[in-house]
Amino acid sequence: MSSYPHNRLYDPLRYDVQNYAFADLGSYARLGPKNGIAASDAQWQHATQVIPGGTQTLSKGPSCFVEGVSPKFLQRGKGGRVWDVDGNEYIDFVLACFPLTLGYGHPVVDAAIKAQLEDGITFSMMHPLEAEVADRVIDAIPGAEMVRFSKNGSDVTAMAVRLARHLTGRERVACLGYHGFQDWYISTTDRSFGIPQAVKDLTSTFRYNDIESLHALFAKHPGEIACVIMEPVLFEAPQDGFLEKVKELAHANGALLIFDEMLTGFRFGRGGAQEFFGVIPDLATFGKGMANGMPIGALTGLARYMQAFEQVFFSSTYGGEALTLAAAKAVLDFYKENDVAAHLWRNGSIIFDNFRNQIERKGLQDHVSMTGFPVRNQLVFKDKNGEPNYLMNALFQQEMTRRGIICYATIGVCWAHAEDDLVYTAKAFGEMLDVMADGLSDNDFARLLQGKPSAPVFKALRDQRQTAN
Ligand SMILES: Cc1ncc(COP(=O)(O)O)c(C=O)c1O
Repeated sequence: MSSYPHNRLYDPLRYDVQNYAFADLGSYARLGPKNGIAASDAQWQHATQVIPGGTQTLSKGPSCFVEGVSPKFLQRGKGGRVWDVDGNEYIDFVLACFPLTLGYGHPVVDAAIKAQLEDGITFSMMHPLEAEVADRVIDAIPGAEMVRFSKNGSDVTAMAVRLARHLTGRERVACLGYHGFQDWYISTTDRSFGIPQAVKDLTSTFRYNDIESLHALFAKHPGEIACVIMEPVLFEAPQDGFLEKVKELAHANGALLIFDEMLTGFRFGRGGAQEFFGVIPDLATFGKGMANGMPIGALTGLARYMQAFEQVFFSSTYGGEALTLAAAKAVLDFYKENDVAAHLWRNGSIIFDNFRNQIERKGLQDHVSMTGFPVRNQLVFKDKNGEPNYLMNALFQQEMTRRGIICYATIGVCWAHAEDDLVYTAKAFGEMLDVMADGLSDNDFARLLQGKPSAPVFKALRDQRQTAN
């Protein structure tokens, strides 16, 4: 990791979290589900009557948190804080599944949305913002010569794959990571219900830092793979030139390389993971982090490929919707004027270094580890027998929630998180570790859980450490 630029910017940011002088220590006492969660529970009862599964976004539903301890509905947010429907306050490290790089209600973004609202939401012809935002994406992203917009990540990963299929005249796809809800991808997961076998047969997966697993796919399907689509980094650094080798191998076999930068874009750096690791793909997808929560997906790439969208169909009613594009313009300008990514690395390092420090100080390295990067990390829990254990994950979430912190086993930071909030979170993590040590004493974590344990959204992806919730 030490060869990457941002890591050189920071010495470990270690704090004496026990004796840290919080500006307003008392204010932390009010965090957490102090008012109970009765309103959350009542609204959940209603939601499950009228919405199948009760939620629009699985990762936001009660199964991803400890049911009975955690709130279920959030009402409002400001900066790095949120308030639930019972009026409880929390520090939020999920950030609406991570698009809120600047935090809730950032004034510059909100002002841009309000100003656009005066003129209109969406129109009968193009709006000038489409090209204005495209200019800004091209300015920020090294591999972006042209850009198309849509409303979410699933749209643009699907369109990247469609474009690659058209350009190569091939049908198969090799992928690595999570790429959204469309058939071509979700067919590879344990939630592939309703997808035709013919579609399932066309997508294969390979493993991070295992170039042989990609070699094997090209060997098995010579001349048939249209593209390699992957998250450029998960929770481990690319080893031994992995990304360079993937690009070389894809091109040697006539396939396009697509980076899915939904979670790495604008966090690893303004130019995404492609800039950070110095490997430029043929196409790339972005979204989270582009418009601070407004719904957007962007497909970027080299002009000689992107121009094929003149034939390949990619068109939707809301692609050029102006409120979102106004937000994106404001966010991208803010990134240009402020080194947001460096600040995210710093905020993430306060979490990353001090979580790690306390794990070591409490001698729990064999059972709890924080892996990855300050801007993309994962907590891994292993029980007394060294086995991965999701009850430990639930116990972690429970103890953090009780102390007023909403998170998965990954901590996403934003521009607005205050230093005190981050140190308080590290302190809470230390207290959580003491509870974890109690559970480890007899390997019984269930006795410490006060609610229904959280469960992985995709168990196989989680077991392979490709997702953190
Ligand atoms: C890496 C990655 N790709 C694609 C997607 C899909 O994006 P969306 O949920 O906006 O469709 C996600 C969403 O979490 C993601 O993390």
